[in-house]
Amino acid sequence: MSAPKPRGASWWALFRQWLRNPLQIAAIAPSSRELALLAKGIRGNGLLVIELEEELHEHLRRRFPAVRVALGDARDLQAIGQRCGFLAEGPADAIISGLGLLAMPLDTQRAILSEAFACLRPGGRFIQFTYGPQPPVAESVQQALGLAVHRGDFVLRNVPPATVYVYERAV
Ligand SMILES: C[S@@+](CC[C@H](N)C(=O)[O-])C[C@H]1O[C@@H](n2cnc3c(N)ncnc32)[C@H](O)[C@@H]1O
Repeated sequence: MSAPKPRGASWWALFRQWLRNPLQIAAIAPSSRELALLAKGIRGNGLLVIELEEELHEHLRRRFPAVRVALGDARDLQAIGQRCGFLAEGPADAIISGLGLLAMPLDTQRAILSEAFACLRPGGRFIQFTYGPQPPVAESVQQALGLAVHRGDFVLRNVPPATVYVYERAV
């Protein structure tokens, strides 16, 4: 197995894909360590990572060999989670999303959020970061799915700075 790639390679991999497809990639730089999970002590084998773009998927697979990285669409999250055995261990506690939701049509946003909550345990959270000033999920989608939201941390040390939003099923 090849050695994990250095972080500079991640910048280049993401930037190159952004040049090809800015709306899908929706970021010119990878998330900073301050937005990251593995560095905060989450076990690699407790994670399932989904990436739609083939080259980025391959890059992530090599860079994080201890993590399951699936090539697929977040709209198919349940099927992907079942296929790779992740959901056989029970529903997920949380989903962390760096998807460019604001650039997506509302029906895509809704399909992704709906799949996500179908994979989460009761009380599970969908955590989304965004670069813009407004919440990343349209209010109509939030209401249609019966979700509550609260604003989390603002992460200045990210390019660009990001705000974290946490979505849960409203009680
Ligand atoms: C803003 S970038 C975040 C990249 C990386 N997760 C990070 O935080 O540095 C959004 C990523 O979501 C991927 N993406 C876009 N639509 C997707 C979808 N429907 N399913 C899975 N991944 C998708 C893009 O290819 C891109 O790599």
